[in-house]
Amino acid sequence: MNILILGSGGREHALAWAVKQNPKTDRLIVAPGNAGIAMLAECADIDILDGGTVVTFCEENAIDFVIIGPEAPLAAGVADACRLAGLLTFGPSAASARLEASKAFTKEVCDACAAPTAAWARFSDPAPAKDYIRRVGAPIVVKADGLAAGKGVIVAMTETEALAAIDDILGGAFGAAGAEVVIEEFMDGEEASLFILTDGIHALTVGTAQDHKRVGDGDTGPNTGGMGAYSPAPVLTPAIEAQAMAEIVLPTIAEMARRGTPYSGVLYAGLMIKDGRARLVEYNARFGDPETQVLMMRLGAQALDLMLATAEGRLDKAQVNWADDHALTVVMAANGYPGPYAKGSQIRGLAELPEDSRHMVFHAGTAAREGAILASGGRVLNVTARGATLGEARDAAYAMVEQIDWQDGFCRRDIGWRAL
Ligand code: AMP
Ligand code: GLY
Repeated sequence: MNILILGSGGREHALAWAVKQNPKTDRLIVAPGNAGIAMLAECADIDILDGGTVVTFCEENAIDFVIIGPEAPLAAGVADACRLAGLLTFGPSAASARLEASKAFTKEVCDACAAPTAAWARFSDPAPAKDYIRRVGAPIVVKADGLAAGKGVIVAMTETEALAAIDDILGGAFGAAGAEVVIEEFMDGEEASLFILTDGIHALTVGTAQDHKRVGDGDTGPNTGGMGAYSPAPVLTPAIEAQAMAEIVLPTIAEMARRGTPYSGVLYAGLMIKDGRARLVEYNARFGDPETQVLMMRLGAQALDLMLATAEGRLDKAQVNWADDHALTVVMAANGYPGPYAKGSQIRGLAELPEDSRHMVFHAGTAAREGAILASGGRVLNVTARGATLGEARDAAYAMVEQIDWQDGFCRRDIGWRAL
């Protein structure tokens, strides 16, 4: 079959890598893609936020299956446009992607189905928001309601910080995404992510992962999109996973169906685990980045069959064939990230690295020029390896990092430390 994947990051490179290995795949196109993706698929530079453009492209290229990677096209209704045109589509409708696009919506859904999560309140005026903060006290978490590219969450350790966050968000620092704020109880514990495929009725877990959000070793410094990840997440024991499915995920799926907006796609549940129980931190309506890189490394070609079963509504008959293994990815980022960084520096040594079912460098932000690979983003490479143990996967990934010659990049040296 002919398959189109939308997106341009390491997540989409990993999805393309897994899909490509499945014998069902004839032609594989990624839009817009990147220099790494171009080594295994065709790339097409189209506007992926425009449903009409995507549908026309699919018709012209006889696409049989569309996989939507990032949240922006989901929130823009690209999955709706594709389904309306009769295309088999992996990714939720805009109405169900609100589980990521609106934090207040997610909280309403949690309340409606009694899913355990942090206590919360929503405000569009600063004065009552600040009164609430003064009443509850710090630590407290202040969030822009809408999509803010991972920057709209302020975990405030002091009341002063929380009050300033209200002024920032409601003052327009995040544009329309900050028209409302959600204020939440601070939850402590250990975070882990659970990835669930659902066709709106049935659900199947496809793995657990933990990422490292802080830029510096020892989980210090500013927040980033994620500096590395590993799967499975040992903190998400089978018992906690079962509790999270029973109390959080399945009730959410049922509530979305009850509202007439069944959720079809991957549901990424960010969980806070404490004293053997999970509470929901947030949902995302897509695969995680860089978590997908480790999930795909473990799932391989069956990922396509599972996404097809999701889109076709037959997940009740699907199952995951698990290998008892571990995967770990190290993000290499441009010096300066997550602050300002330069683009265009050359990366050498990639061609000499192994590329097989246990080793893969996924490209997150690269461009090719005259045969050279250049950095074109903040997070640039995801150096990923699989092993019988997490330690083995880590050693293999860092051995690959050592062979990459990139003066203008850096990585954390301690990915996986919490689990190791
Ligand atoms: P979110 O975008 O909602 O996942 O928030 C980003 C990060 O902020 C999460 O991964 C957590 O580390 C942290 N966070 C969000 N909500 C809370 C909360 N209620 N309590 C503690 N930490 C939180
Ligand atoms: N790694 C976090 C995310 O994809 O949102």
